[in-house]
Amino acid sequence: SQRTLVLLKPDAVRRGLIGEVIGRIERKANWTISALELRTLSQDVLEQHYGEHKGKPFYEPLVEFMSSGPVVALVVEGERVIEGVRALAGPTDPIAAAPGSIRGDFGTIVRENLIHASDSEESAERELKLFFPSLV
Ligand code: GTP
Ligand code: MG
Repeated sequence: SQRTLVLLKPDAVRRGLIGEVIGRIERKANWTISALELRTLSQDVLEQHYGEHKGKPFYEPLVEFMSSGPVVALVVEGERVIEGVRALAGPTDPIAAAPGSIRGDFGTIVRENLIHASDSEESAERELKLFFPSLV
């Protein structure tokens, strides 16, 4: 099975949507939450996490937003969980996200789209190491 790194972004925490979003993940059969922590992300971690977007016009406001308050970082484990959590989240832009998806139901603007989930096995491996280095 797979593991993926999920972040409930500062807007989700501020709006009291931690339980709602984690509930949707928990209700998926055969998925397990194997690590979970509330933490405020440093510039250094965010630079590494969003390195692929460095130089893009939305990068600076994205990093500022992601450090504007605590996030909930979690590791979810299960069959095809990388693809699965991305599907639960919906597309990046909440306007384009269908009702029933997390971003479709609660999203506002593209920057404040509530949730991050690793987008491939390679990203998952890199992000798991960055956020939970002690995890084997
Ligand atoms: P993450 O799970 O957060 O990585 O989202 P994603 O994989 O759906 O999108 P992507 O990695 O392409 O972009 C990372 C984050 O940057 C997005 O979640 C948005 O918050 C923000 N972002 C992406 N594209 C845009 C954009 O065109 N404009 C703005 N303002 N923000 C963007
Ligand atoms: Mg991404």
